[in-house]
Amino acid sequence: IMSVGEDGGDGRLVIVSNRVALPDEHGSLPPGGMAIALNAALKQRGGLWMGWSGKVRAEKKQVSPTMQEANGITYALADLSDKDLDEYYYGFANRVLWPVFHCRVDLAEYNDARKSGYYRVNRLFAESLMPLHREDDVIWVQDYHLIPLGKELRERGCRNRIGFFLHIPWPPADILATVPVCEELLEALSFYDLVGFQTDDDLNNFAECLSRRNLGRLMKDRSCLVKGREFRCGVFPIGIDTAKFESLAKLATRDGDLQEVYKKTAGCDVAIGVDRLDYSKGIDQRIVAFRHFLDRNSHRVRKTLLLQITPKSRGEIPAYLALQKHIAELVGSVNGELGTIDWVPVHYTNRSHGPLELAGLYRLARVGLVTPLRDGMNLVAKEYVAAQDPSNPGVLVLSQFAGAAGKLEGAVLVNPYDPEAVAASTEKAFRMSPEERKDRWSAMKDSLIGHDVYRWCDGFLAKLEAADLPA
Ligand code: G6P
Repeated sequence: IMSVGEDGGDGRLVIVSNRVALPDEHGSLPPGGMAIALNAALKQRGGLWMGWSGKVRAEKKQVSPTMQEANGITYALADLSDKDLDEYYYGFANRVLWPVFHCRVDLAEYNDARKSGYYRVNRLFAESLMPLHREDDVIWVQDYHLIPLGKELRERGCRNRIGFFLHIPWPPADILATVPVCEELLEALSFYDLVGFQTDDDLNNFAECLSRRNLGRLMKDRSCLVKGREFRCGVFPIGIDTAKFESLAKLATRDGDLQEVYKKTAGCDVAIGVDRLDYSKGIDQRIVAFRHFLDRNSHRVRKTLLLQITPKSRGEIPAYLALQKHIAELVGSVNGELGTIDWVPVHYTNRSHGPLELAGLYRLARVGLVTPLRDGMNLVAKEYVAAQDPSNPGVLVLSQFAGAAGKLEGAVLVNPYDPEAVAASTEKAFRMSPEERKDRWSAMKDSLIGHDVYRWCDGFLAKLEAADLPA
């Protein structure tokens, strides 16, 4: 295991995240720009990726991660017990931090056991990582599941460069204040050398949280001092593998299964939505808006459909189960009331699709509906744009509350809380002239090429490597 990159020179990259993107038996990675980018970076530099194995272990059994090699990357996979999973993943991470960071304080269900489980698993990750990493490795921790990991590593004597990137939004100060241990979380971030956010708003919210609690201040050069510890902050909007997605979309037009789909939807304009089944994605609001759109545009009836692809997610959490039921009922009522024998207005599936199929479906759709209520970045928006046919591109209708809205100026921006406005924007998108579609699309496409996921990765690591070493 330890032979990876052992020839000296630059240190390895060590990535730690809750979920690890392991290639399947055909060598393909799960979809998602982050998995692809982190894999590419690891391959280039040689490295280690540590995270949860996806497996549950018996409560008392001693844990040391299982090591596995694939594509020149070493994976360290830690099993979690049922209690760990319940308190850390389904508990503090996804029933406290996820809702609060997405401004759904009403859905937060804090309790001390969940908090303890979160810290316990972070300690367990730190203990597992200590014997695996080497002096010159650069450690990059990903996302809200692992905020305290840097501090836990430092307390065990780790003096490496350690960076942290938050993939989800950082909330405003008065929202964060609802988390009983918010001050500990803020302080924990000061043990990293570099803390990265998706957008300026996220960084500003973070700075506001620090200053309101008199914990520290963000300086002009984006350095920060908290209780005598200096660290850097930065904004690094994540991208996709634009070139790869583009070529996948071209390939997809020749795929047999997709050609069938193209034939079956011929004569209908298609709008597409692709989201994990999550309350932050605004899926139910989108279906209501689509109904308004059909109600107001009778010429669209039997000639337009919404393809809503929605893989189930975090199904053990009551809010997710309730949403699952609510969306299924909503889709049923729209299809029952408006549908005809030969036309189903909302095609709803809970299946997940590979990148080739998705790219083909994005290219088929005249309109991409990406309308989250709040979202760190949203890579579906970027994938939809990258997949379009340059000679006849579709239109992206994008929530103003997605991080992606800052970079995709050619999108039709909407407020997802306003169903009539989303309906009007959807109609505008379907009606848009080919010239306007091309203009809007090429501006977005250029920005996606200039800011792809490799640049995101290199940009973060360059800043991390330039950061001062901990004293
Ligand atoms: C978001 C989070 C990721 C997470 C993903 C899927 O994008 O930022 O950290 O992995 O959702 O959620 P899951 O709970 O299935 O890992």
